[in-house]
Amino acid sequence: MAKYIPEPYRIKMVEPIRQTSYEERVEAIRAADYNMFSLASSDVYIDMLTDSGTNAMSDQQWAAAMRGDESYAGSRSYEELMEVAHDIFHYKYIQPVHQGRAAENMLFPLLLKEGMVSISNYHFDTTSGHVLLSGAKVVNCVSPEAADTQNYAPFKGNMDTEKLRRLIAEYGEEKVGCIVMTITCNSAGGQAVSLANIQETGAIAREHKIPLVIDAARYAENAFFIKEREEGQGDRTIKDIVGDIFAEGDAFTFSAKKDGIVNMGGLVGVREDADLIKGIKSRVVPYEGFLTYGGLNGRDMAAMAVGLIEGLDENFLRSYVGQAKYLGDRCRELGVPIQYPTGGHAVFVDAKKVMPHIPYYRFPAHTLCVALYLEGGIRGCDIGSFILDPDPQTGEQLEADMELARFCIPRRTYTQSHLDYVAEKLADLMKKSEEFQGFEVVEQAKVLRHFTARLKPYTA
Ligand SMILES: Cc1ncc(COP(=O)(O)O)c(C=O)c1O
Repeated sequence: MAKYIPEPYRIKMVEPIRQTSYEERVEAIRAADYNMFSLASSDVYIDMLTDSGTNAMSDQQWAAAMRGDESYAGSRSYEELMEVAHDIFHYKYIQPVHQGRAAENMLFPLLLKEGMVSISNYHFDTTSGHVLLSGAKVVNCVSPEAADTQNYAPFKGNMDTEKLRRLIAEYGEEKVGCIVMTITCNSAGGQAVSLANIQETGAIAREHKIPLVIDAARYAENAFFIKEREEGQGDRTIKDIVGDIFAEGDAFTFSAKKDGIVNMGGLVGVREDADLIKGIKSRVVPYEGFLTYGGLNGRDMAAMAVGLIEGLDENFLRSYVGQAKYLGDRCRELGVPIQYPTGGHAVFVDAKKVMPHIPYYRFPAHTLCVALYLEGGIRGCDIGSFILDPDPQTGEQLEADMELARFCIPRRTYTQSHLDYVAEKLADLMKKSEEFQGFEVVEQAKVLRHFTARLKPYTA
């Protein structure tokens, strides 16, 4: 029987959520052009679209927010944030920005140009968007274990280092503008990356003088997995493990909306490269704002300073990662195929297995999300072929390695009974999966189309 770890917090404030009827949901999803991002949150019962910025802040964070210093320049809240961030990451330069993609926008155009390539264990969609906007090519290089959703491997998010070496030789080291290590590896199912793999990737990057960028959105969860699963790491503190991870990087981008447990915010950091620091500073001012606020309110920076500390707390991490594991274990008990082991922040249902009759170009994972919304008012999202923008040259729909329907767990937000409800609705859906035939895109943007695309159900 799946085991639930009691939360290390209690509830002080509640936010009502509403159950809707099946008929209301049919109408709501139709009016949203079958795009999960276009649904009104008031039409959603359990919102698992993302864990990004949907976290519940603590009493300490709200208190810090009330003390936020809104000075344009030299804000005390900026100083507080810098003190905490430097203590965690130990990089020479750390810059607040409004969210993770802003960090990407500050950094990637300085590393990548037309004709270059960025290699990652897996670029997240916004990361891949910024690589493409810089004119460079996106190449993913995750361990082949990731594609085998049913078999347990502790570090399915690892970089395939043999392939990485081959790719560097193929493209030529001068053409590889950066190597991006995404921890945890969101697109492979929130899967962990081992410290040994991060260190090996760091060594390869140094050997070829290619900057290693850490996409740190879920660095604390990744460190927790390293402590739990990697030999010789069990007695170390999360903070020490984090120190070792970041010692390998030359720069990092960070969406604080995940492991920073805030609703908005991000950081970009550079270990020591003076030119890169100069380049970032010159981009921050026109795009994000003055250096000591970088697109954030003083109160946001104050809340992030506290959230960074709370996000590294081992009891919190055990409970949070434990919630995902509980939901994953319940799904497996009920026969729902998921990426196994369960990721840190979400359960990823293997839509290829649930809806094998739907080809990638009719988006099985997106279809599963729409079906689960109709079944129980639960909102997830596609991490499969639908989030891949069509090939910019040919316009052809690309096929993802995995068709995963992602159901994220916002931090400190839902309870055990909510998770039980989700598992039961997924199990109910398994019995009806053949009723769904997939979707067609009616209208789409060129980059990151999944946020705004309009779709319609496919009919033969
Ligand atoms: C791994 C990863 N990198 C980058 C981002 C982008 O962060 P943001 O949404 O704050 O722009 C996300 C967001 O979900 C992510 O999961």
